[in-house]
Amino acid sequence: MTSLEIKNLISQMTLEEKASLCSGYDFWHTEKIDRLGIPASMVSDGPHGLRKQDDKADHLGVNESIKAVCFPAGCGTAASFNRDLINMMGRTLANECQAEGVSVLLGPAMNIKRSPVCGRNFEYYSEDPLVAGEMAGSLIAGVQAGGVGTSAKHFLANNQEHRRMTCSSNIDERTLREIYLAAFEGAVVKSKPWTIMASYNKVNGVHATECKEYLTDVLRGEWGFDGYVMSDWGAVNDRVAELKAGMDLEMPTSNGENDKLIVEAVKNGNLDESVVDTAVERILNIVYKFEEGKNPNAVWDLDADHEVAHEIAKETMVLLKNDGILPLSSDKKIAFVGQYASKPRFQGGGSSHINCRKVTSAMDAVANICDVAYAQGFNDKVDATDEAMLKEAIEVAKNSDVTVIFAGLPDVIESESFDRPDMKMPKNQLELIDKVCEVQKNVIVVLHNGSPIEMPWLSKVNGVLEAYLSGEASGAAVVDILFGKVNPSGKLPETFPLKYEDNPSYISFPGEGNEVNYAEGVFVGYRYYDKKNMDVLFPFGFGLSYTEFEYSNLKLNKTSMKDTDEVIVTVDVKNIGAVAGKEVVQLYVNDVESKVLRPINELRGFEKIDLMPGETKTVEFKLNKRAFAYYNTKIHDWHVESGDFNIRIGKSSRDIVLEEKIYVESTVRIPVKYSLDSAVMDIQEDPVAYEIAKPYFKLDFFTDTNSSSEDSATAEAMSKEMMDAMIRYLPLRGMLNFSNGKTTLADLNELVDKLNNI
Ligand code: BGC
Repeated sequence: MTSLEIKNLISQMTLEEKASLCSGYDFWHTEKIDRLGIPASMVSDGPHGLRKQDDKADHLGVNESIKAVCFPAGCGTAASFNRDLINMMGRTLANECQAEGVSVLLGPAMNIKRSPVCGRNFEYYSEDPLVAGEMAGSLIAGVQAGGVGTSAKHFLANNQEHRRMTCSSNIDERTLREIYLAAFEGAVVKSKPWTIMASYNKVNGVHATECKEYLTDVLRGEWGFDGYVMSDWGAVNDRVAELKAGMDLEMPTSNGENDKLIVEAVKNGNLDESVVDTAVERILNIVYKFEEGKNPNAVWDLDADHEVAHEIAKETMVLLKNDGILPLSSDKKIAFVGQYASKPRFQGGGSSHINCRKVTSAMDAVANICDVAYAQGFNDKVDATDEAMLKEAIEVAKNSDVTVIFAGLPDVIESESFDRPDMKMPKNQLELIDKVCEVQKNVIVVLHNGSPIEMPWLSKVNGVLEAYLSGEASGAAVVDILFGKVNPSGKLPETFPLKYEDNPSYISFPGEGNEVNYAEGVFVGYRYYDKKNMDVLFPFGFGLSYTEFEYSNLKLNKTSMKDTDEVIVTVDVKNIGAVAGKEVVQLYVNDVESKVLRPINELRGFEKIDLMPGETKTVEFKLNKRAFAYYNTKIHDWHVESGDFNIRIGKSSRDIVLEEKIYVESTVRIPVKYSLDSAVMDIQEDPVAYEIAKPYFKLDFFTDTNSSSEDSATAEAMSKEMMDAMIRYLPLRGMLNFSNGKTTLADLNELVDKLNNI
């Protein structure tokens, strides 16, 4: 339907009909108008599988949905750092939606992992906005290529579950721009999602659903979003204010209650009817976009999609430790210990919960390779050791050459709706690992968790595979990696701190009452740990392989540039090991000297490449102003400070292997407002201003006449540092007191005038 036809349709509607379209028909559909032939359009969760509910609806994954395929959750897909893979997952999901008549898949969930204990971290991608934006963008592009919409969620700053429907995320402008908005910006600009989901929380005291600044000015005005914004389920607060702010669709239905408020507001002049028209138009644009792109021949083959889930899972796991024990040889006597070997934990709880038809456990998968002994070891429904299970596990471990322990976090600890209290594993699992290590020298731990945990046992084991929550084929992918059929290639999209208390948000998370102050500012995740040079358990970007990669030949096509130019960076990567493998090449930018508080390293590019043994590939990155910029709150824009920047190529944020320098010159002058209260150092920072000011500086701190010349020489020498500092920090007004009458107020006012007119 053309834009004109949609407008024409709207012109035939009554006000009541228009208002009705601004909220859902029921829990999962947009409103229909039979009289005008407007269909209801179905939306469904999302994001890593289809949770389509036919009968009983709910937003917490409690009631059954149709049988579907569970793909790896966001924690794992981000670890793949593989845009094409995620795009393929999106295309597969789109086909499933087409087959089921679902117009919009409610995802990707892409909030920044501010704290390691946020209950929904398993769904989210990263602590880094570039990774979150790129991964989300790839999923969006994949789904939408199949004629189905997405809903990038939860916009904005929904980084915890505690009081998620009422708390206010209080964040300064620069941090919002550089971290929390930046993730969405990347995805929206790159892939234009059909819809956005406004989150439950408030941002700086205003409901996210009512923030015109973000929903309209930034999202549409700056980033070019042209779909519709829907509310998270039950997030509506003030329907009329929300419509004005740009929040088009209330979900789910409020059974006509809020529609009545819209009608009333138009009638009493509090709401312009054109605002309602605009919202309706945006919703119908998407409803018809789906209708017209429908694929009547779509067939959903659950077995084929299970294999896609398996393919993706192979790249979502991160090898964290390997002292040579992996890959395993099938000749060895192997034991699998731990409940998750036979019943893997492969997804989280809540609205993303998928009702799987088929799940492959590691025990299922290993049956095709060799016999392994098994003991359940623990029951994840309780946090107490079952002595009989523990005893059995110890026996099984003792009688093996190698024991693989399948551990992690149970559903009861990690889910939507609540946050974890800490980063600890359940005690019964900790005891199992300890006891097995007492009787067995060769131990590998496979972890099933959606977010970082503390690992007090790390030094006792020989290998650790972070399997994350990697979907229904999780067990097959774990076995592929354990036995070397697949070379692990995942990297951590988040830091694993040594302990929870090390995390920068620790003190202010989850806030007091309804207020949570993002006091750490831009220093989220590795931006903080690197700045403080703190030891971490595993750094951002870290992950081992069964082969080795050698980096060389880092080249920049220029050594200096203006911030309006771009620089091309190339680096060669060679597989110097014996097996094929994939590497995530990471590019960080480091501002060598800065007046602004900045992180040490910021990820500005990544590429995943595959290399046969002995093969070399050249990886290319293009960097523009944004790669060097911080957000300047004086000009409300991105700004580069002129100076040197290091371009760093790393295997993780802590393992920088190559570095080259570039000088970037700013083309934007930040206006400074000088006053009598400006410090001398503020003037010294601008060479032009300093030249003008020098003649006015007639400082004379010493009027002492009694001391000997020898004494005063020593005093002068000793106080040079102090004198310099006194001058630097002196406000202009202070010159009246320290110039022995040589500086007058008129002089100073004249100087301020001159400086403000440069
Ligand atoms: C969640 C959303 C989800 C919606 C519908 C909400 O509780 O926050 O992510 O899409 O429910 O199930």
